[in-house]
Amino acid sequence: MPTLIVTNRSGEETAVEVASGLTVMEAIRDNGFDELLALCGGCCSCATCHVHVDPAFKDKLPGMSEDEDDLLDSSDHRDDNSRLSCQIPFTDALDGLKVTIAEED
Ligand code: FES
Repeated sequence: MPTLIVTNRSGEETAVEVASGLTVMEAIRDNGFDELLALCGGCCSCATCHVHVDPAFKDKLPGMSEDEDDLLDSSDHRDDNSRLSCQIPFTDALDGLKVTIAEED
């Protein structure tokens, strides 16, 4: 199974193995990171699944929808590597992806 590396708000890094078919948000949530609220359950309407993604993987990520872009604009902590983790299906091509849970808005 491909591995996702998650850094929490305290800066601690944890590697988790991700079953196929999950999004990055689901992989983080299902591994007990309660900092990632994911309040809307993944339907791209809350922005509480905001993460900063390792720029080395930027080209392998799916494109950003207008809705995701608009929601990220509502965050004070948006940067060039910001994504909503529910909008990223975790595929084998993303093995080793590093994400950092964004600061709380
Ligand atoms: S979980 Fe709500 S936008 Fe991602």
